[in-house]
Amino acid sequence: MPLSSSTAKLSGHSYSMRIAILISGRGSNMDALLTAAEKAHVEIALIAANKPCSGLERAAAAGYNTALINHIDYDSKQAHEAALDAVLLQAAPDWIFLAGYMALLSAAFIARQNHKIINIHPSLLPAYKGLNTHQRAIDDGAEFHGVSIHLVTAGMDEGDVIVQAGLKVRRADTAEILAERLLAIEHLLYPAVLHALHSGHVTLSFTPVGVDCLWHDLSDLPRIDQADICLIKTA
Ligand code: GRF
Repeated sequence: MPLSSSTAKLSGHSYSMRIAILISGRGSNMDALLTAAEKAHVEIALIAANKPCSGLERAAAAGYNTALINHIDYDSKQAHEAALDAVLLQAAPDWIFLAGYMALLSAAFIARQNHKIINIHPSLLPAYKGLNTHQRAIDDGAEFHGVSIHLVTAGMDEGDVIVQAGLKVRRADTAEILAERLLAIEHLLYPAVLHALHSGHVTLSFTPVGVDCLWHDLSDLPRIDQADICLIKTA
């Protein structure tokens, strides 16, 4: 159902925010966002992927509006982004959530989306931009590792950080174990940011994953023009 305004009514529910999710892989953060969006009555305007992946298959099977904008079908990054622009124009999301989307977006694309794009990255930025973050943290003997949610810019993992959560690296951690421990936190933190954007306020009570967790509450919040993000540590 094409909707042009940011307030829509579907199935008797009022939706006050629409989001798009971009993925490239298994989509576990997408799943966490979908569950949170359903509870909060945030509308999923589009789920798109830049290559065939299990996350997109699952989303399509569940009946979401999906699009495969396969990068191999395009001659250039510019052409690929133009195709992505077209489906996003139709979907008209208020915010775009990157959830394991494995491609850098150009400054022009980000500007066309009014800078309303956020990403989840598995490190305590600015440490460990890029890939293999868990192994690099272990190799460095880092005391803490974590996850950052940040505004997207054309630089890799470089935009303003919205919120971070960390955990203590354990002696027994392998990259796989650490990734798994961190993923449990990612699945809480990304939905929390969704709620924050939706309501302008969120309270986090951090007990569910039972790990020794450290919240980094940022007082220097990013310049987000349509919502105040307020993440409150309660545990
Ligand atoms: C997550 O670790 C996320 O932080 C990073 O890529 C991974 C995606 O996992 N950007 P999934 O596809 O959400 O399961």
